[in-house]
Amino acid sequence: MISEAEQFEKIPCIAYENSSEACRVLAVEVSSLIRERQASNKHAVLGLATGSTPVPFYRELIRLHKEEGLSFQNVITFNLDEYFGLEPEHRESYYRFMREQLFDHIDLPDSQINIPPGTVSREQVFQACRYYETKIEEAGGIDLQILGIGRTGHIGFNEPGSAEDSPTRMITLDKVTREDAARDFLGIDNVPRFALTMGVGTIIRARRIALMAWGENKADIVSKAVEDEVTDAISASFLQHHDNAQFLLDSGAASSLTRKRHPWLVGTVDWSDALIRRAVTWLSRELDKPVLKLLDEDYNEHGMSDLLTECGPAYQLNIRIFNELQHTISGWPGGKPDEDDRHRPERALPFPKRALIFAPEPSDELRALGGTIERLVEQGHTVDVVFLTSGNLGVGDSAAERFAEVLKELADVQGAEDWNTPVSYAGQLLDHLAAKGPFGEDNAALRSIKSLVRRSEARHALRACGLAEKHIHFLDLPFYETGRYRRFKPDDNDVSALCGILTKLEPHQIYMTGSASDPSSVAGVCYRLFQTAMTQTAKEAWQRDCWTWLYRSGEKPFASYEIDMAVPMSPGQLKAKLTALSQYTQEDESTGKRERAVAQYYDQLGLADYEAIEAFRLWKS
Ligand code: GLP
Repeated sequence: MISEAEQFEKIPCIAYENSSEACRVLAVEVSSLIRERQASNKHAVLGLATGSTPVPFYRELIRLHKEEGLSFQNVITFNLDEYFGLEPEHRESYYRFMREQLFDHIDLPDSQINIPPGTVSREQVFQACRYYETKIEEAGGIDLQILGIGRTGHIGFNEPGSAEDSPTRMITLDKVTREDAARDFLGIDNVPRFALTMGVGTIIRARRIALMAWGENKADIVSKAVEDEVTDAISASFLQHHDNAQFLLDSGAASSLTRKRHPWLVGTVDWSDALIRRAVTWLSRELDKPVLKLLDEDYNEHGMSDLLTECGPAYQLNIRIFNELQHTISGWPGGKPDEDDRHRPERALPFPKRALIFAPEPSDELRALGGTIERLVEQGHTVDVVFLTSGNLGVGDSAAERFAEVLKELADVQGAEDWNTPVSYAGQLLDHLAAKGPFGEDNAALRSIKSLVRRSEARHALRACGLAEKHIHFLDLPFYETGRYRRFKPDDNDVSALCGILTKLEPHQIYMTGSASDPSSVAGVCYRLFQTAMTQTAKEAWQRDCWTWLYRSGEKPFASYEIDMAVPMSPGQLKAKLTALSQYTQEDESTGKRERAVAQYYDQLGLADYEAIEAFRLWKS
C-alpha cells in the first residue's frame, strides 16, 4: 500500500542506497521467475534493455549463473531496440552489446535470443517489425520487461511524441539521445539517425515492468514520469497506466521525488538543520521573494507551520538561514589566515595548505573550479592537479590526424634523417586512421596520441591559472586506458594508484567530483575509487587534518541549499577562467552558464549579486 510520503508517485518507486543493491534485488526476482518456470517445464520470457544502466544487473545475473548455478536454458529474450543500419558486429550495435554484457557469459541458447534486426532494408522494416511483434505473442508475451530511461524520458527508443499504443517500428532519434550516444560513437556525426524499437504499446503489454535509473542526472526525468501527468512527451509516463510497473532507483535518481526533495509537503518531518535550510530556500524561490522578506503566512500556507512552531517566528528563522547562506560565501577557499574562522567555510589553519584537485577527465578541474584554483595559488597555497584519466576517448580523430600530419610534414621541412622514427610512427597512425574509418576502434598508438593532445591542452590551461608544471600529474588510471565508455571495469590497480598519490601529496584539502554521477560514467567510477582509496588510507596521519570538497562538473549543479562553500567571481575572474578553458578544444557550451546560474540563485535569495560563483559541498565520508 502506498504511504503518505509516496502520495504523488503514480508508479511505485523503490529508492535503494545504491545501484548494486537494486540490481541484486531485481536479479533475485528474475532468478525466482526462471526457476519457477523451470519447475513446471515452461519458458520465462524476458524483455531486455541496453545502455549503461542494466550493465550491473547483467553482471549480477552472470554471477548467479556462474556461482549459484542459475541456468537460462528455458529463457527466451526480446531486446527493446537496435540502431538502424548497424551490422551486428559493429562495436556499438546492441546485438554486440548484449553478447558482451550478458549472452556470452550464460547458457542461453542462441535460438532463444531476439533482437530487432538493424540491417534489414528500409523496405523490409515494416514487415520485420510486425514479425517481431508476432514472435513476442507466440512466445506467450513478455513476463518481465527490464527498462532504463533516456534523458528525454524515453523507454526503448520511444522518443517524445510516441503514442501509448505504438507498436514495434522504426523511429528517428531525438537530438538529445544522439548527443548522449556521441561519446560511445566517437562523435555525434557517427551516431545513427534511426533505430528500430519496441513500441510503448509493446512494452506496456508485458506482465511486469521494472525500470532502473541511476544517478542525479536522471532524477528530474524520473520524477516527471512518476509524479506528473501522463504525456507523450515523456514515454515513460505511460507506465502510470500499468498495474505492475515499478521504478528501481538509487539515491541520486530518487532525489527529485517529492518525498525526497520536499518531504515537508507529504507528511511530518524531523526538522534537521539541513532540511530547514532546504525548506526556507525552496520557499524563497517558490515565491520569488528574498529570504529576509518571507512572512509567517508564507510558511503557514506552504505546509511549514510546524517549522514555525519549532524555529519561528518567520523573522527569526529568516535571519538564521540568511546568515547561514551568507557564511557559505568566501573568497578564501583555502581559509583566511589570521582571521576568526568560526563563520567561514574553510578553517584558517594550517596555512599554507596543500590542496589536491582531482579531475576525472581533463577540463573538469577548470570548468568547475578554475577561479578557485587561481585564488588558491594567489593566496599562497600549494595546489596539485591530478588528472585521473587521460581523457583520450574524448578526443576526435581529426585532432589526432592533425598532429600526426604536422609531425610528418615537419620532417619534410627539416629533411633530417633523425626524423625517421617519428615519421614512420606518424605514417602508421595516419594509415590506421584511414583504415579504421569513423566507427573503428582506436589502436594503442592512436589512443596515446589522443592522450598527448589532451595533456598538452591541460598543461596550457593550467599554466594560464598560474600552476607550475611540477604540480600537474597525469595518473592515467588503468580502468580507463583499457576500457570503453560506460563499460569500465575498475580494479585494485586503480585504487593503488589513487592511494599512492594521496600518500605522496598528503593533502590538507581535496577537491573531488562524481558523487552524483551515473556510477558507470568516468566521474562516477572515479568517485567510487576515491572513496575506496580514502578508506584504505584512513589511518595515515594526513587524513586527521584533511577536508574534502565535492564539486560538480558534468552533472546536475548543486541546489542552493546543498552548497557549503561559494567562491564568488568578478567579471574579470570569470573572463580569465574562460580564457584558460579555451585551451581545451573539446569545451562545451555550458561553460560559464553554471557559475552564473549559482550567482543568480544567491542573488534571488537576497544575498550579494556576484557575476559568478563556484560551488562546493563538504564531503562526509
Ligand atoms: C538508449 C536505450 C535505452 C536506454 C537509454 C538510457 O536510448 N535505447 O533503452 O534506457 O539509452 O541509457 P543509459 O542507461 O546509458 O543511461
